[in-house]
Amino acid sequence: MNTIKYLLDEDKMPTHWYNVAADLPTPAAPALHPGTGQPLGPADLAPLFPMALIMQEVSTERSIEIPDEVQQIYRQWRPSPLFRARRLEKALDTPAKIYYKYEGVSPAGSHKPNTAIAQAYYNKIEGTKRLVTETGAGQWGSSLAFAGALFGLEVEIYMVKVSYNQKPYRRALMEVYGARVVASPSTETACGRAILAEHPDSTGSLGIAISEAVEMAVQRDDTKYALGSVLNHVMLHQTVIGEEAIAQMEMAGDYPDVIVGCTGGGSNFAGLTFPFIGAKLRGERDVRVIAVEPAACPTLTKGKFTYDFGDTAHLTPLVKMHTLGSTFVPSGIHAGGLRYHGMGPLVSHLLDLGTIDAVAVQQLETFSAGLQFARTEGILPAPESNHAVAATIREALRCKEEGKSETILFNLSGHGHFDLQAYMDFQAGTLKDFEYSDEEVAMALAGLPSVG
Ligand SMILES: Cc1ncc(COP(=O)(O)O)c(C=O)c1O
Repeated sequence: MNTIKYLLDEDKMPTHWYNVAADLPTPAAPALHPGTGQPLGPADLAPLFPMALIMQEVSTERSIEIPDEVQQIYRQWRPSPLFRARRLEKALDTPAKIYYKYEGVSPAGSHKPNTAIAQAYYNKIEGTKRLVTETGAGQWGSSLAFAGALFGLEVEIYMVKVSYNQKPYRRALMEVYGARVVASPSTETACGRAILAEHPDSTGSLGIAISEAVEMAVQRDDTKYALGSVLNHVMLHQTVIGEEAIAQMEMAGDYPDVIVGCTGGGSNFAGLTFPFIGAKLRGERDVRVIAVEPAACPTLTKGKFTYDFGDTAHLTPLVKMHTLGSTFVPSGIHAGGLRYHGMGPLVSHLLDLGTIDAVAVQQLETFSAGLQFARTEGILPAPESNHAVAATIREALRCKEEGKSETILFNLSGHGHFDLQAYMDFQAGTLKDFEYSDEEVAMALAGLPSVG
């Protein structure tokens, strides 16, 4: 039978998240206090996050139970389907077998609710009343707004101004869920006002929006901050994707030779790949893993692996990651969720260890891949996810050239129903490629903090 989708029953949904820290050959470097430069203790993070999340951040336990209440909400859309892309394979005339895990089936349209629900849950049980966050493309903001609505938490979202103006319907969705959305940089925070004083026309960046959200969160005892990527606990919550995928690949009687995911801060990539990487690190099963980023924001392929701030105003801890420098403002590519100067420390560490590979892809190639995907598979990918589609197509064409029937699995992290302006621009021929030159990289990196 030519099966197209592999569905797990609800009662087969994973009950535990997988923690890759348990299987690393060397531990990732600790986060440092921005003032003292010393490793952070749990108390340092307490103004920002509930203690359960702080403990997950530093945990080395392999397996962490998903609370019942979180599992119950996950069941609204999980387990998500695994598809075999038979029509795309045919269009590419490739001997490769292509599978994709589709996270666009969540209410918000991407993988982001996997962690939004968990973060809202832990905040709720520890007494938080209000969550503040940032959003780029709006996928994370919609997800936290949705989670806030379910747990009765107020949600305030600093949305990068360029996206706020480009994507009014994403903003409207967050407001439907009951969140308050502010264009960033704003006049509501000291760091927003400082940036506007210097650059009145600033279109914002994720680094600036994070600074505003953190500044607001630390001002009130009933308020905490939530981050949609980068941190270890976020990667952890996303591993439900890869654990399902392992069971679904088994249903298909197959195992990936190559796994592909796009990387902004690294969470959807980590979610799909870490459970497979765990098997690789334990010496059970080998697999090639490819992280795909935009050429306009080449954190993994051109950034430096060093300590840096997570935000522009330097309010966050210092984390060791691949970075382009916290002052870096990426060009206006449409994959808003990939325009971040840094990368999750765990993903950065795995690249440094040589466990994973990274490639950078230009915007036009990603949209043309997205169009080919939509015209064969029918699903319209988010511009971020198009990066994974593009790298998968490259791999499938390599298999064709080499006459190899490899199995490729990629994460289709979200749908692009709120991104149609980007597709219209692409089809009208007005989108451009952006190369980030080595000189620009060197300039942005000159401002890195010095850590002893
Ligand atoms: C659909 C989608 N994919 C990928 C990303 C990138 O984030 P991450 O690297 O954390 O998965 C985003 C971020 O907003 C997104 O919305």
